[in-house]
Amino acid sequence: MKIAFFELEEWEKKYFQKELADQELSFVDEPLTDELDQKIDAEIVSVFIYSKVDAKTLDKLPNLKFIATRSTGYDHIDIAECKKRNIVVSNVPSYGENTVAEHTFALILALSRKIVESANQTRLGNFDLSQLRGFDLKGKTIGVVGTGKIGSHVVRMAHGFEMRPIAYDPFPNNDLIDHFSLDYVDLDDLLSKSDIITLHLPLNEKTRYLISAKNIGKIKKGAYLINTARGGLVETTALVSALQDGTLAGVGIDVLEGESDIKEEWQLLSKKFSRVQATIDMANNILLKNPKVIVTPHNAFNSKEALQRIMNTTKENIAAFLAGKTINEAK
Ligand code: NAI
Repeated sequence: MKIAFFELEEWEKKYFQKELADQELSFVDEPLTDELDQKIDAEIVSVFIYSKVDAKTLDKLPNLKFIATRSTGYDHIDIAECKKRNIVVSNVPSYGENTVAEHTFALILALSRKIVESANQTRLGNFDLSQLRGFDLKGKTIGVVGTGKIGSHVVRMAHGFEMRPIAYDPFPNNDLIDHFSLDYVDLDDLLSKSDIITLHLPLNEKTRYLISAKNIGKIKKGAYLINTARGGLVETTALVSALQDGTLAGVGIDVLEGESDIKEEWQLLSKKFSRVQATIDMANNILLKNPKVIVTPHNAFNSKEALQRIMNTTKENIAAFLAGKTINEAK
């Protein structure tokens, strides 16, 4: 079949050339939009989120039967219009659950064992231990807010460290209760009991400022906060104050408030996404300079394996369609 790929990097082209060697592949570096200067006779297209697949674009693809988007979200594709035209759409439902959970623990361990200070100090030839005493994770209470795909991995990993996991989520996961001794509690309880609080829930109108000046004082004095979810879940100015008054002993964040334009992590890898768009306001700047804070640049998803999983799932989606089946249908 004729398959047209849009918006691929070179390593991705090579991958599909190898994996779909018996198909007729073509590659267009630009996104797929209605600005195509000629019709394309591909039966399958694979796109990323900068493509805009609406009725006008579909008019340029008269033979199209299947779209494989290399993303989780698919709001760049007019699904209703595709249905009308009997075009099937598949997406990549998940790719980085363990990846983000591992980054969460990278931040926790960096704080608990003062890894950044230790490395900076020894690089300067200073082997003095007096400022580098950390703390054990074993026996500590970790409060996981949101026990979906990523939060569940965090609970499992915490269990491995012999921590005591507690969680807050309107939809408790019984498997975690049964197998990892997880206790669900309300948010205030979680804030007051946790030695480490970690956020793994989506940002929306209900969750914006989940932790704010109104409730940050309920956090157990000297606790640590980890945020690898979205910056807008936490009121940054309240965070700065909580660090100043000792409510929080340290913070590990992969996401800053003001990044809300980012829908999908993969946008960050694209040359089209300017980091300037991520507004770094004054409070963020204070955070970035605070030695009790570790900031990573929205990098939690960015592992070789996670990116490879996106390619693998896209290939599987296409292979299934070629075999007459549909998997991971976006509807
Ligand atoms: P998920 O949808 O599997 O899980 C989210 C969980 O949050 C669900 O169990 C849901 O019930 C719970 N939840 C919703 N509202 C809540 C509330 N008000 N209080 C407590 N829990 C609530 O999502 P997944 O895959 O675990 O991802 C979580 C978040 O991580 C994403 O929404 C995304 O913002 C962020 N993320 C960050 C990445 C990074 O590179 N830093 C990469 C991927 C995701």
